[in-house]
This record gives sequence, C-alpha cells and structure tokens, in this order.
Amino acid sequence: MSKTINVLFLAAEADPFIKVGGLGDVAGVLPRELRALSTDELKLDVRLVLPYHPAVKAENLRPLELYSIPRGDSEIGVEAFETSLDGMPVYFIGGDPIHSSGSVYSLDAKLDAEKYAFFSMAAMELPKHINWQPDVVHANDWHTALSLYVNLTKRWEAGAKHVAGVITLHNMPFMGSDVSAILESYGVKLAQTDLPEWARVLPLPLGLWASDAIVAVSPGYASEVLTEEFGCGLHDFLNLRLETLSGILNGIDTVSFDPSTDKALSVNYNLDTLNKRVENKELLQEKLGLARDPNIPLLAVISRMDVQKGVDLAFTALKNMKRINFQAVILGTGDPKLEESARELQKLYPDKIKAELRFDANLARQMYAGADMILMPSRYEPCGLAQMIAMRYGCVPVVRAVGGLKDTVIPNETGFIFEKAHHMSLVSAIKAAMKTLPNREKWQELQRNGMSKDFSWGVSASEYLKLYQSLMK
Ligand code: GLC
Repeated sequence: MSKTINVLFLAAEADPFIKVGGLGDVAGVLPRELRALSTDELKLDVRLVLPYHPAVKAENLRPLELYSIPRGDSEIGVEAFETSLDGMPVYFIGGDPIHSSGSVYSLDAKLDAEKYAFFSMAAMELPKHINWQPDVVHANDWHTALSLYVNLTKRWEAGAKHVAGVITLHNMPFMGSDVSAILESYGVKLAQTDLPEWARVLPLPLGLWASDAIVAVSPGYASEVLTEEFGCGLHDFLNLRLETLSGILNGIDTVSFDPSTDKALSVNYNLDTLNKRVENKELLQEKLGLARDPNIPLLAVISRMDVQKGVDLAFTALKNMKRINFQAVILGTGDPKLEESARELQKLYPDKIKAELRFDANLARQMYAGADMILMPSRYEPCGLAQMIAMRYGCVPVVRAVGGLKDTVIPNETGFIFEKAHHMSLVSAIKAAMKTLPNREKWQELQRNGMSKDFSWGVSASEYLKLYQSLMK
C-alpha cells in the first residue's frame, strides 16, 4: 500500500511569488523538490503557505471560503486563496495584519510581530478548511516559528492528532520581538520553557523549543550555533537539544542557473566551451563602462548590503588595493550607509569600480558569467547561495571560512578561503587569487572543479525526506 506524508510548508517568502532574500530561493524550490521525490510507495504531498503580501505576484488565485480566528473578545477575518505551482498546491493567507504592514519585512518590529503571529495562527487553521491534514508542519525562521508553538499546544488537547514540527534555521540572529501580549490575545498561553528568560517571549526561540527537529541550512552552521560566538544566546539551550539538531545544505536551482542555457547571457558556455566565457567578461566590462581588457582581474560583489555579508570589509579591502590593477563591480541594495560607501568607492576609483545599487537579476547572472572571482567576506553565513551559483558559472569564490561557505568552497580546489573577519585577510586572499589568475591552466582547473560540483537540490531534499520519515515513526 502506498503511504503519504503530508507537509504544511510555511515561509514568509517564496520565489516566484515574492522574493526578498535567500529564504525566498529556498522556499521557492525545496517544497517542489520534495514532492518530486514521491514514488509509488511513498507520496510526499508538500503544500506551500505564504502570506498574501501586497507585493505578491500570483496568477489564477481561487478564493477559498472566508474564515476567522478568535482574537480578544472578537474575531479576525482570514482570506485564503489557492493556486498551484507545477502541480503543487500553494495557499496565500491575507488579512488586516498582513495588509497593513505592507512590505515583507517592515522596519517596524511591532507590525511584523502582528503580521507573522497572525499568519502563523491563520495558517494552522487552514488545513480544516481545505479538508486535508498535515503530518508535518515545516516552518522557516522566526516569521513562521510560532506555528510550531501553536502546533505543540494543539497536541496537548485531548484526542489531537500528533503533527510533527520541523524548523529550518536560515538566520539565527533574527528572532522576532516580544509576542507575549499578541499570543495572549489569541488565547495561546505561554508555557514553562527551558529557554533563557529573555527568549521565552520571542517567536524563534519558542518555535525552536516547540519543534521536533531543528535544521540549520548547512552542517557548518549547525555546529556554529552551538557556540557562544554564533549561538546568539541560545547555544546552551541548543546544546541540550543536540539530538534534534542537524544541518542540511541548501541546494541551488541548477536548471535556472545554468551557464549553458541562461538567457541573460549573450554567450552561453559549459565545461567543454569554457574558453568562450571570456566573451561574457568583455561584454560586462563594456556594459559597465570599464576598460575592455580580458587580462585585468574582474572582481564581483553580489550581495545584500549588510554587515552580515561583510560588504564593508570588501569595500575597505578594495580601497586598500590602490596600486593593484583590477576592476570591481558591486551589485545589490540594502543598508543606506553601505550603499553610500559603495558610491564613495566608485567616486574614488571611477575607472576601476562600479557600484550598481539595485536589484538586477540579469546583471547578477552576467556577473557570475563574466567576473573572474566573487568576494564573500561574511561575518556569519548560514549557507550562502551566491558562492554555489558562482562556482556553477566558473566564477571563483573568495570566501571567509564560516558556515556554509566553509562547507562548499574547498581551498585551492574550487576557491580561496581566509579566516579572519578583517579586510587585510581578504586582501591577502584576493592577492593569492590574482597570483593564480594569469596561470590559465591552474585557473581553469579551479573553474572546472567548481563547475563540476553538484549543488542541485536532489541530495538535500532526500535528507529532508529522511528526516520527515524519522519523525513519522
Ligand atoms: C539566509 C542566510 C543565508 C542562506 C539563506 C537561505 O539569507 O543568511 O546564508 O543562504 O538564508 O537559507
């Protein structure tokens, strides 16, 4: 007889409906990859639930029957919609708290707390209204963590079905803000937890506490969160939960990110035609107004402008490379101060450095295909996707030895690694890379090694499946 595992997969964002960061990439692909693992013996019915943010782009939305959830002395209305993506049911949940906060992540912590608490509550009520029962609730980051807390409190009700709770940890420092009053208004009691006191009212810690399994987005990050340096005050708690913690490396969408078919590129190439790649470099130089010269090292920064990503270290490093012949392109948006530093850098070295401070998916692809190396000096990096995409395109990563970067980049085989979060350590790594670059044979070997790595989702999705299965026992 064939078995089914039903999974309610909750996230704040998912490509192609709405994407702000790496979470959107993962939530956009992993649920479908999991469904694709279905066999005659085992069906994986994973369904994605997202907030109906005003900026969501979705077609053929079918409204479901309205429902409401109790809040204070009255009720709060939930508007749910259904659509599908490659055959996977996708649900959007709307309502006042989601609508009034506007953006996916607002600067107002209170609005976000209201929005995601409401979303988590409403999403846990959804199954009733679609005649479908999950075996697993799979939450991601703090935004949806409260669903696991609610799930656990439901389990305490007499006769309730045992629904397992899984949380994927993409970014530990973001825990949400105090939700004790909000939970109370929804009639959810705060339990006695073994969390540190300050954490007992925050969505992420509550979700971690209530989950049956915690998955960090790389094995490296899974061991880092157990340390004081990266554990954000929860390391002792996590050490007590060691047996429920694991690390599963994210994959990338290797169909979309494929230099041999990528439509954003003027010249497609693969391992056998790697020599053609240089044409993309020259086109990129021309497009950006840089000198068209295949011999000048071209460096890329493709990142959210955020101190997490260490872009400030990259800027200071570049600033200190006065006497070195190089070109660099910085692409991304984020912290206004960091954007300003990027602009200043361009002003300082107008012939060398271009700051493209915007979201531009096509330019990003052209940079992966044209730049010689990508710089990722992250202060912490739960997984990191850009280094994997870069390797697939033969763009050699220069990364800090941290989290998922350390797990995916092999020193002198696929890239260059440095230890300290200091710009001079980055400069040394860049210099080492630049020294290798003119040695075409050696450089192409680095490129080929990276391009040959399998960063597809298949492997990671199977690990999630194994985890689900272990929770079904
Ligand atoms: C967060 C992390 C990043 C990770 C992504 C997807 O954005 O900062 O390292 O790759 O989530 O899991």
